[in-house]
Amino acid sequence: MNGSLANFKPITAPTSKRSFYVLLSIVLLAFINTSACAVQESNTYPVELFSEMHYSQAYKAQEPPRLAPLADSVVFVSTGHPDSVLRVPDKRSRTYDPVIAGNLYQVNCSVCHGMTGLGDGKATRHITSSSSFYATSEGEPYKSPPNLVESAANRLNEREIMFRFVSGWNGPVMPEFGKILAEEDIRDIVNYIFDDSTGLSK
Ligand code: HEC
Repeated sequence: MNGSLANFKPITAPTSKRSFYVLLSIVLLAFINTSACAVQESNTYPVELFSEMHYSQAYKAQEPPRLAPLADSVVFVSTGHPDSVLRVPDKRSRTYDPVIAGNLYQVNCSVCHGMTGLGDGKATRHITSSSSFYATSEGEPYKSPPNLVESAANRLNEREIMFRFVSGWNGPVMPEFGKILAEEDIRDIVNYIFDDSTGLSK
C-alpha cells in the first residue's frame, strides 16, 4: 500500500456529469410517461401528468375565446323607442311584394315543393325513399310533395282554402306553418303561389 490515496479514483461521476445523467433520465422518464398513455388512462396513478390535461378544469381548449363586452355597452332593459330602433316594415301594413314573398316561399317551402313549386325539392327523394323509416314501418314510401302550381289551379284553388291548409296540420311530413310563421307571412306565400305575373303561377 504505497501512496494509494493519490491513485484513488472515485467510482461516482463528478458532480456535473452526475447531474447530467439525472437530468437525462428525468427527460427520458417524461417521454416514456407521455408515450405510455395506457398506463395513465387506466388510472393506475392518482395524478395524471400529461395525457388527460384537457379534462382539467383549469385548461379548456375546447372553449372559444371570450369577447369582452364593448366598453360603453349598457344592460338591456326594454325595447327601444319606435323612433330609434330598426325600421323593418310592419307585417300588418305591408302590401304583397313578390320579392319578399318569394324569399319566404324559398326559405320555407322549396326544400320539399321545389323552387318553382313543381314538387321536386331537394328533400323529395328522402321523403319518398323506400328505405325511409316511414317506408319500412308502413310498408310503402310516403307520397311526393304535390305540385303547388297545379294545386292552385285545380285543387286548393282558392287562396283562403290554401291558406287554411298551409296553416294547419297535414300529416307527418309537412310542418304546421300556423305555429311557425305569422299569418301575414303565410298569406304572402299563398299569394306568391297564386301570382300569375311574377309568382309561381306565371
Ligand atoms: C318537409 C317537406 C314540406 C315542406 C317544407 C312544405 N311542404 Fe307542403 N306538402 C308536403 C307534403 C309531403 C304534402 C302532401 C300532403 C301530405 O303529407 O299528405 C304537402 C302538401 C301541400 C299542399 C297541398 C297541395 C295539394 O293540392 O294537395 C300545399 C298547398 C302545400 N303543401 C303548401 C306548402 C307551403 C306553402 C309550404 C311552405 C310554407 C310547404 N308546403 C312546405 C311537404 C312539405
